[in-house]
Amino acid sequence: MIRRAKVMLSSLSGKVAIVTASTDGIGLAAAQALGQRGAHVVVSSRRQSNVDKAVALLQSEKIQVTGTTCNVGKSEDRERLVNMTVEHCGGIDILVSNAAVNPFFGNIMDSTEAVWDKILDVNVKAAFLMTQLVVPHMEKRGGGSVVFVSSVAGYQPMQALGPYSVSKTALLGLTRALAPELAQSHIRVNCVAPGVIKTRFSQALWQDEDIVDEFKKQLSIKRVGEPEEIGGVIAFLCSKDASYITGETITVTGGMSCRL
Ligand SMILES: NC(=O)c1ccc[n+]([C@@H]2O[C@H](COP(=O)([O-])OP(=O)(O)OC[C@H]3O[C@@H](n4cnc5c(N)ncnc54)[C@H](OP(=O)(O)O)[C@@H]3O)[C@@H](O)[C@H]2O)c1
Repeated sequence: MIRRAKVMLSSLSGKVAIVTASTDGIGLAAAQALGQRGAHVVVSSRRQSNVDKAVALLQSEKIQVTGTTCNVGKSEDRERLVNMTVEHCGGIDILVSNAAVNPFFGNIMDSTEAVWDKILDVNVKAAFLMTQLVVPHMEKRGGGSVVFVSSVAGYQPMQALGPYSVSKTALLGLTRALAPELAQSHIRVNCVAPGVIKTRFSQALWQDEDIVDEFKKQLSIKRVGEPEEIGGVIAFLCSKDASYITGETITVTGGMSCRL
């Protein structure tokens, strides 16, 4: 008799996951993917109404979820998010640092100090400072997983998005800088670099057919990506299936040739 092997998805049951900027787009898709694998997800963003909507959606999908507001650019918000998670969920195993802003389009030489401060504060510094806050809690659990959301623009700066692109390159470096230090605590640090994904953030890129046609020339898979296609990769990186992967960035771009 042929015994059929049981196919089992790597489970995240019992794990607690903080996903920042998770009431829409890629963050929400990451929360769904982690939740579908059994994790208790903590969703947050700046607006309470968005948090309420995301919590209701995830609950309707039978995902264990807690929601709160958090602007990752504010230290008091970051601390409140972490403290609330520990009090409410008993610990932290996973951090997906997904928040980013882009307040500037144009020639990089026209960007101001205020633009750089905002972009670096939210996109880079907050990613590190969130990591610094969660690591002691992961250590108490015997390990954990951190995933940063960078961008293909981190490898190849996009036209008119100079400062944003530079902030995304910094996350590739942050991944590499943290991975060896945190491996001692059994914490893996990885990164995803999405291409053009259909979300509100990237509306300007995918709503204009001429721009989409131009992008498609660079793609092997001739379409814009969906948030779920990033969420699944993030959940994989947080799972046991990725237990020997750290310090790595996975590009999810439909085959854009941004790196070897
Ligand atoms: N879409 C793409 O093509 C693409 C490509 C490469 C990389 N990415 C990266 O993917 C990440 C997510 O982008 P997305 O496209 O999914 O965006 P999105 O669909 O527009 O969602 C943005 C989310 O971030 C929240 N948010 C914005 N500023 C925040 C802040 N300061 N603190 C906390 N939450 C904040 C928003 O909610 P509130 O308004 O309630 O705060 C919302 O939930 C970003 O890091 C972006 O750089 C996106």
